[in-house]
Formats: sequence, structure tokens, C-alpha cells
Amino acid sequence: MRNVTKDNITDVFMGYMGEDTNPRLREVMQSLVTHLHAFAKEVNLTHAEWQMGVEFLERSGAMCDAERHEFVLLSDVLGLSSLVDMINFKPGGTSSSVLGPFHISGAPPLPIGGDLRGDLDAPVLLAQGIVKDTDGQPIAGATVDIWQTAPNGLYSSQDPEQGTYSFHGIQTTGADGRYAFTSVKPVEYEVPTDGPIGEFFEACGRHAWRPSHLHFIVKADGFRPLVTEVFPDDDAYLDQDTVFGVREDLVMSYWHMPAGTFPDGFALSGSVDGPYLQVDFDLTLVEA
Ligand code: BEZ
Ligand code: FE
Repeated sequence: MRNVTKDNITDVFMGYMGEDTNPRLREVMQSLVTHLHAFAKEVNLTHAEWQMGVEFLERSGAMCDAERHEFVLLSDVLGLSSLVDMINFKPGGTSSSVLGPFHISGAPPLPIGGDLRGDLDAPVLLAQGIVKDTDGQPIAGATVDIWQTAPNGLYSSQDPEQGTYSFHGIQTTGADGRYAFTSVKPVEYEVPTDGPIGEFFEACGRHAWRPSHLHFIVKADGFRPLVTEVFPDDDAYLDQDTVFGVREDLVMSYWHMPAGTFPDGFALSGSVDGPYLQVDFDLTLVEA
């Protein structure tokens, strides 16, 4: 086509696609380019704005390495990561939520009743629940990969003061499907703002805060893996999570338990004599 116009450029683009192009790729490209072209026309995109956008993406890419995932963060703060989660959600199971960039593979096994808090002087949180199927039957042999920030709001990969697997552990459920561990109460924190995404927040008048949460990846043979989080129902940022990760069924009460009621069967049994917090959060998996 030698007479490319504003009105035909999307069709011309599609005409350039080879006949043997994978049909799914063709479908995705058609929609992507149609929306991209429509967006530029709708806002009358200027050269300066286009250039600013390209530079923003270039600087985001230049920041990425094995530890820093600025493009994933961009997807998170635009709501795209959460939208993809929700599009792919299969009803009947626990809602999925954002993975985020701070999960580390290879966390050490954590026995049922094990502890992530160590000797930190921070409130004790007892977290427990049943991994079950959509009929409510417990799932044995499920792995529950758990991670959270330290009380300073930093994940281990962000904080040279923490060991590699600090506040990370993997539990394997027994016949009763139960996971249970002690830790510190998670805190609210800001997602990284020292890169281009920080400029985006500033320009859009947005904050970078996430409500406090525990992360979980749950896997079991024959079931779809679940990436999710649990949030306390009194968190100030529940209605304004900057990465759009909150779902109604992921918000739980963190019960204030009185002194002297800490149950047996935990690594910390006998050493928790004061009040503590408890969250009960079942994890329902959908068949693969
Ligand atoms: C997180 O919860 O770890 C997280 C999620 C998205 C962006 C940054 C952090
Ligand atoms: Fe997080």
C-alpha cells in the first residue's frame, strides 16, 4: 500500500501479516494495533508526547535485571497484571492476586506450626487454614509457598540486612490439608518509587502504597496453581491498593487473641505468653 492514511493504517498493518501467522498471534496483534492506533487518534498524540512515552519505556527497560522488574511494576500499577488475573480466574476457587516482583524460588521447607518471626521483637501473627478443593475436601501434599516483608516493610531481596530467605518458607500439607505458621504482622509498604514508576506516581498524583498482606503460591497435583494474598480487614489502604490486588474474599479479620490462649503444636508454643494476632484463611483450589 503506497497511500497509507490515518483511516487505513490499521488495515494496512494487518495486510503486512504473513499468511502462516499463528492465528492467536494474529488475533492479539489485530486487537492491540487497533486499540493503539485508536488511542493515538483519540488523544491527538503529539510528537513530544510520543517521544516522552518511548523514553519512559526505554528507561524502564534499562532498569530491569534479575532482581528489579520495572516493566512488571508498570503492568502492576496500570492494573494490567490484576486484569489478566481476573480474566483467567476460574470461579469456585480462592481469588488470585498479583505475584509481585519479590517472590524468590527455593525457599526452605517450613514445618506445619513452624515460625518465620525468629527472635524479632514484633507482634506475633498466627496464620493458618486448610488447602481444599471446590467440594471442601482437604488436599494432602499441597505446597504452600509463603512470603512477606520484614517489619521494616522490605522484602529480603531489597534489604541487605536480611538473609536471602528471611520471611520466606514452603509448607507441605498433610492429610488434613492444613498449613499453619507464626510470623510477624505484615505492614503496609510502598512499591519501589526510585525508577520511572516513581515519576509516573508523581505525575498522576498517586501514592505507591499497598495494604499489608501475606503472599501465597499454592500448588497441588491435578489442580490449577493459585497465586494469592490475604489482607487484614482494618487496613487503611484496602480501598486504594496501588496495584489493584484486593478482592473481597481475600480480606480477613486478624483476630486479637488474649494472653494465655496460644495453642500447642507451634514452634513458638511456650514462648508466646502475651496477646497475639490470628488469621484463618482457607485456600480453595480449582481442578486443572
Ligand atoms: C508485592 O506485593 O510484593 C508487590 C506487588 C506488585 C508490585 C510491587 C510489589
Ligand atoms: Fe507484597
